[in-house]
Amino acid sequence: MFRHTLLAATRNRAARRIVETAPGTRRIVRRFVAGETTDDAVDVTAELAGEGLLVSLDALGEDTLDTAQAEANVQDLADLLGRLAEAGLAGKAEVSLKLSAVGQALDEPFALENARKVCAAAHDAGTTVTLDMEEHDTVESTLRVLTELRREFPETGVAIQSYLRRSEEYCAELAHEGSRVRLCKGAYSAPESIAFTDRVEIDKSFVRCLRVLMAGQGYPMLATHDPRLIEIGGALATLHDRAPSDFEYQMLYGIRPQEQRRLAGEGARVRIYVAFGREWYAYFMRRLAEKPANLGFLFRSMASR
Ligand code: FDA
Repeated sequence: MFRHTLLAATRNRAARRIVETAPGTRRIVRRFVAGETTDDAVDVTAELAGEGLLVSLDALGEDTLDTAQAEANVQDLADLLGRLAEAGLAGKAEVSLKLSAVGQALDEPFALENARKVCAAAHDAGTTVTLDMEEHDTVESTLRVLTELRREFPETGVAIQSYLRRSEEYCAELAHEGSRVRLCKGAYSAPESIAFTDRVEIDKSFVRCLRVLMAGQGYPMLATHDPRLIEIGGALATLHDRAPSDFEYQMLYGIRPQEQRRLAGEGARVRIYVAFGREWYAYFMRRLAEKPANLGFLFRSMASR
């Protein structure tokens, strides 16, 4: 119940005002968000790269309903990619892109054109883009945009959410050579007709998707902190004769940092999803929704008002 309430609150202005202005919130936010500026993002990337970790950068900001804002978001990402190249970090860091930040809700061809500019900037910098997957009603549009982007930038990746009943089907379609698929459980709210809502069913679906991706010709990216799924992922990689360079683990900045380093220390490729920027509210609320204990920290910080 908490999960649905928190996810509903990502779109509630009053809730946003309360959370953003509560004293102490920023300290908790900093656990999940690397900072507010491009400088912060580059510094954290350099730090993580120094520890043998890879990075995917998420410039926070989503659900853009303004053309100028969408274009400004594209420019910010192009600047970020330029900075990564200058700092010699493009081989260590890619960019995660939310199509809703570049105008998907306004017009799909407009978002495609913007995403194309981001992919071109990534290509020039020497790195890649992975499309995040957002609300269930944007999935088909995101996959259409992916198909178009891959014509020019075949290295473009995409996230698939195992809570979607069709996730296994999507994985089968995407398990081809050159394809990069990030498998995650799914961080949004979706109706029962479209998504599994039971945690065990979501996990089982994750394993079915993982089997398809590991057996396929693409490059699987296992985005989970779940110890059982990480273990199953490793076992399936061995079963399918995948070398450590043929797949990667991905985790969020601030979550299970020791496990991130343990896997990297064993020779695995581990990529940390680093979110940064001022528009942290929705991202932060999704992190709270994933783990009720995080809510305790927030309530305590609010009580100290
Ligand atoms: P689960 O939620 O079961 O957590 C397993 C364990 O991990 C928990 O017991 C806890 O120890 C730890 N943990 C997980 N979340 C935590 C939190 N917030 N705070 C503290 N501890 C936590 N989703 C989506 O819909 N679209 C997307 O594009 C992406 N992209 C993405 C990229 C990457 C790199 C990751 C790791 C995740 C995403 N996600 C996502 C989010 C994903 O769908 C999911 O919500 C979270 O990863 C949590 O699910 P787990 O698989 O970790 O399992």
